[in-house]
Amino acid sequence: MSSIRCVGIVGGGQLAVMMTEAAHRLGLQVEALARCPDDPIFRILPNARVGDARCEEDLQWLADRTDVLTFDHELIDHRVLARLEADGVVSRPGSCALSVAVNKQLQADLFTALGLRQPDTIVVSDVNAALTAIRAFDDAAVLKTATGGYDGRGVLLDVSESVVRQWFRSEVGTVLVQRREAIADELAVQVVRGADGIVAGYAPVRTVQSDGMCSYVSVPGEFDDSLERTAITIASQIATAIDVVGLLTVEFFVVDGELMVNELAARPHNSGHLTIEATRTSQFENHMRAVAGLPLGSTAMVVPAAAMANVIGGLTPAARGALFGDEVAVHLYGKRSRPGRKIGHVTAVADSPQEAIVRAVRAANELQTTV
Ligand SMILES: Nc1ncnc2c1ncn2[C@@H]1O[C@H](COP(=O)(O)OP(=O)(O)O)[C@@H](O)[C@H]1O
Ligand SMILES: [Mg+2]
Repeated sequence: MSSIRCVGIVGGGQLAVMMTEAAHRLGLQVEALARCPDDPIFRILPNARVGDARCEEDLQWLADRTDVLTFDHELIDHRVLARLEADGVVSRPGSCALSVAVNKQLQADLFTALGLRQPDTIVVSDVNAALTAIRAFDDAAVLKTATGGYDGRGVLLDVSESVVRQWFRSEVGTVLVQRREAIADELAVQVVRGADGIVAGYAPVRTVQSDGMCSYVSVPGEFDDSLERTAITIASQIATAIDVVGLLTVEFFVVDGELMVNELAARPHNSGHLTIEATRTSQFENHMRAVAGLPLGSTAMVVPAAAMANVIGGLTPAARGALFGDEVAVHLYGKRSRPGRKIGHVTAVADSPQEAIVRAVRAANELQTTV
């Protein structure tokens, strides 16, 4: 039996909420360190504290009250965490895995060390070097901040000179200039690694992005069997290499029929939300099981197909009263409207992924409005 009774979540967004719901079902207690007083976590943990995830004292506050720390975002300082670990604080994933998860440059180095195919990348730290690198890719390039980006916010897809110059005027820090790949499809794989090192994989999902942000996801991904198996093997290999305990998501591109690794996240992920309805054990429950040192649950699908669509921006006035019957499961996060912000998601289960996508996207469109 695990001796862990109480989990401390660093972060207070929707991932923290869904982790907490899963933890409560497992009989675990949860404390959280939120970023703002209106974070979704306060709806279920009114005593959560607002603090700075990069601040040692705030992390120590959480560690003092809990048996293990875990995370719902990457905006942390792994060196601060490493200091706490040296004092005996248990963190899952640990500072070593998080140091890679928070930094796309280190991710690229890891993929190279593991011999994995990825977009050609040149690392730069100023605008002139970036413009030279873009030319080296014949102007077919994508710029990414090494740290701090999410939901396409740290990604620049328009690399015309004036836009690049403007972008560098904000604090972008170290930047990865990547060859813009002719991506045929995108997929994501969730694997969960227990405290004992055992890894279990979920069925790969097909993801569709617009403006660099995930729009919808479907499963089965209907990729080539060997491609799906390879993706799960690669994700498992990465989880073991960086010693993740908990959920790991790896995003891939399919280019010329082959996999390229894009990036990773060492936490439950938007592309895995449909595991709540579509699998025996959701990504959130399996993350909490791993973090608490409990045996992992089955990752098998319990429906023929499912799709998840994000609800982005704001809610239509009718949204809260909307009745979708059996069409979709609605998850609203209780977040304020903001352009481009994920404020909820819907999941549809169906006999085919195509049918599930139609239902999920239709419901998301009925719920959301641009703000
Ligand atoms: N090298 C690339 N070539 C073509 N498209 C890319 C490339 N890198 C990223 N993209 C597009 O931008 C999206 C977001 O990039 P990603 O690195 O995953 O950033 P984020 O951390 O915001 O998810 C990807 O899902 C893909 O659609
Ligand atoms: Mg991504």
